[in-house]
Amino acid sequence: FELYLDSAHCEEIRALSKVLPLAGVTTNPSIMAAGGVGLTQLLPVLIEILGPKSRIHVQVISNTVEGIVAEARQLHGLPFDIVVKIPANTAGLAAIKLIKQHDIPVLATAIYNVQQGWLAALNGADYLAPYLNRIDNMGFDGIGVVSDLQDLIDKYQLPTQLLVASFKNVQQVLQVLKLGVAAVTLPLDIAQQMLNNPATDAAVLKFEQDWQAVFADTLSFG
Ligand code: E4P
Repeated sequence: FELYLDSAHCEEIRALSKVLPLAGVTTNPSIMAAGGVGLTQLLPVLIEILGPKSRIHVQVISNTVEGIVAEARQLHGLPFDIVVKIPANTAGLAAIKLIKQHDIPVLATAIYNVQQGWLAALNGADYLAPYLNRIDNMGFDGIGVVSDLQDLIDKYQLPTQLLVASFKNVQQVLQVLKLGVAAVTLPLDIAQQMLNNPATDAAVLKFEQDWQAVFADTLSFG
């Protein structure tokens, strides 16, 4: 299983990397813009934070087949483990088909329905990123799309895996985990939500108070 953070905010990623077993980071143009740092600067910092084996998913900016292919080759030439994110539209699907002839790792992104994911998988995408919350917000069934894609992957033994994206609450994360997806990418606030439980904090405080009432400041072996 691979756990990613969906962010380009280095200091928050650094803090969370101390607690979470991160496989890497996913970005898209909006996330990069929010981080405010270009790729040349960002990549070495992410590798310093997450270690040399971490995997970074970087989205192309081009929207023509030729442009996407050229950008993918450039990204693949960088000395990092980069997966090229390509939107699963007509130009993107054509580009994925060409790019996979060069064995470049690809994630088909912005997947809103089963057929997009299915076609991207047939064209060789290594990862599929269904946009769970955005699908829900359109009035469709995000979990249903993820579940159908996972069924097709299993039934046809497709050489691809789901990296589910676009979460707005923890329940959505738990639901896709129960479907057996290979990876998720969490926004920083959702990762934080999963770490914190006020009931645990209250329990720890009570343990401390009970201990100190009898043993003052000694530690457990004191
Ligand atoms: C991930 O890589 C996607 O681009 C991202 O999760 C989309 O999420 P959003 O719906 O929160 O923008």
